[in-house]
Amino acid sequence: MLVILKRDNEEANEHAAQLIAGAIKKKPSLTLGLATGNTMLGLYRHLVRLHQSGPLDFSGVVTFNLDEYLGLPASHPQSYHHFMHEHFFRHVNVLERNIHIPDGSIRGDYDAYCASYEQAIRAAGGIDLQLLGIGRNGHIGFNEPTSSLASRMRLKVLSRETLDDNSKFFGPGEEGPRCAITTITMGIGTILEARKILLLATGASKAAAIAKSIEGPITCAVSASALQLHPDVTFVLDEPAAAQLAERDYYHRVLQMTALLTPDRL
Ligand code: F6R
Repeated sequence: MLVILKRDNEEANEHAAQLIAGAIKKKPSLTLGLATGNTMLGLYRHLVRLHQSGPLDFSGVVTFNLDEYLGLPASHPQSYHHFMHEHFFRHVNVLERNIHIPDGSIRGDYDAYCASYEQAIRAAGGIDLQLLGIGRNGHIGFNEPTSSLASRMRLKVLSRETLDDNSKFFGPGEEGPRCAITTITMGIGTILEARKILLLATGASKAAAIAKSIEGPITCAVSASALQLHPDVTFVLDEPAAAQLAERDYYHRVLQMTALLTPDRL
């Protein structure tokens, strides 16, 4: 596990974008797992800038999003389909056929749909790099507390805390949380199969979840603590998100050595 500490939100976003860009340059046909949410907005802005100025070429990249709200069609302005197209896909050259986002409008055999999404990931060779945010309660994807650490893609009911956090995306009077109570999300077991994982967390509201995930016990009460089981996880944090970590000095020293020994990890 590598913990990269950055001064502020902007530096953290830029660093995470550089790590993704480096992975794409190394493997132009990268299979990239993507996340949504407020944290990702700055990161996607940086990736778009790298595409426009670099140019960073996404034409060989295959993407799989973590989750979608059940009951929201792709065209709904609050869907994660809409979020991804608005903030990322329409600005870069990922090919439409290489974009995968769980379908929130499915009905009926949800298990079969989830199995087919996981099968598509396997058919693409598995996820090379999975990008994650983290909820205040430690969720990754929408694996809320008490999710099995071996869980697969499935429907997952959102906790009250996550509903409150996400309701800021819905305008006054807009129908939101009522239809957004359930998501289709990759499971923790699905996420842990990615070859590399990059978790980006910024802001003081994430500090407790980050400390528990990195330094606390592995527990289903904090889904992100399962990342301790993965051999290649990088956390990119700004100072407020790292504030409750007890071992900050140690992470700084590890970073200095990493810069000397394996600079391409940074
Ligand atoms: C969304 C996702 C979630 C978010 C988390 C943090 O695709 O996977 O785990 O990363 O809810 O959301 P923000 O960044 O809005 O605090």
